[in-house]
Amino acid sequence: MHWYILGAGAIGCLCAELLCNSGAKVTFILRNQSQLQTFNQAGRQIRLRDGDTCCSISVDASAAADNAEIRHLLVTTKAYDTLPALSSIQHRLAPDAQIVLLQNGCGQQQEVARLYFPRQIWAGITTHGAWREAPFQVVRAGIGQITLGPLGTSQLTLPDGWEKIDAAIIAEPDIKSALWRKLAINCAINPLTAIQGCRNGDLLTDPKLSLLMRGICDEIEQIAHARGQQLFTTPLFDAVCEIALLTADNFSSMLQDLRQERQTEIEQITGFLCREAAELGMTLPHNQRLLDQIRSQQNRHYTKGEGSE
Ligand SMILES: NC(=O)c1ccc[n+]([C@@H]2O[C@H](COP(=O)([O-])OP(=O)(O)OC[C@H]3O[C@@H](n4cnc5c(N)ncnc54)[C@H](OP(=O)(O)O)[C@@H]3O)[C@@H](O)[C@H]2O)c1
Repeated sequence: MHWYILGAGAIGCLCAELLCNSGAKVTFILRNQSQLQTFNQAGRQIRLRDGDTCCSISVDASAAADNAEIRHLLVTTKAYDTLPALSSIQHRLAPDAQIVLLQNGCGQQQEVARLYFPRQIWAGITTHGAWREAPFQVVRAGIGQITLGPLGTSQLTLPDGWEKIDAAIIAEPDIKSALWRKLAINCAINPLTAIQGCRNGDLLTDPKLSLLMRGICDEIEQIAHARGQQLFTTPLFDAVCEIALLTADNFSSMLQDLRQERQTEIEQITGFLCREAAELGMTLPHNQRLLDQIRSQQNRHYTKGEGSE
């Protein structure tokens, strides 16, 4: 089996290790010749650091503009890069290619399924944690699992060869609900911690923030309910409190992105929720305010960047 990975970042490198260990051939798809050259100069290897241990794995790489046909593709870009990244390799995708999208956020999966029909699409979420310390060098922050399910079909199959992966891969028949649950948690924790500049646990210990989070959760539940999505067996607020407690010391990825002046996934998280609300003729004052605040902070960074060039 030959899997191509589009998105050679933190999650892409972790998945490359899993796929290589399962016996698959792995090829990264890089943006351009310049990235390919950097990769070649680094010995065509990725380095994974886990505490004090470090391992190197040899993988192949090709530039997006190459012509070799792709029959198996894993996409691990940030959610906002999915469509442009896929469009850069559209000419290489076999008509019956299998495409796995492993990302946070919602909306892009349905758009890929629409644009790349009749190819078989799997959507997935992961609880693995990792970050990039340098190009093609990744630090593992936590071992988790990957939950995957096919879009647009009730046939529960894993992508080719994924049954050989020696790690927790959960086949989920109702991936849409799993995506909604992950979205609900991300909507409740990420933008609020990003705006407040606080750790996840502060949402539990500061009564004002807890009250705000309750309002955010109530709005998310209204939209999920209107879309016929069952979230958790407990109220969303309770489920979010549980996650905030488990990750009390963490800074959310959105806060880290804002601090490092990187684009956030807000449009695929709270932005998706607010677009759903607009379609339903509903308003979400708490979530809309967070969306506006994150947008405005991002814009400030971009404007600053443009001005300093
Ligand atoms: N990291 C985690 O612990 C974690 C945990 C759970 C879920 N997730 C989710 O997993 C997804 C991936 O996150 P990540 O942390 O792995 O992100 P990341 O480290 O930023 O990696 C994204 C990669 O995609 C590449 N990319 C973007 N556009 C491309 C294009 N057109 N062609 C080729 N490559 C392209 C980027 O390349 P450049 O460097 O050139 O931009 C980068 O290498 C996100 O949705 C995230 O929310 C992450």
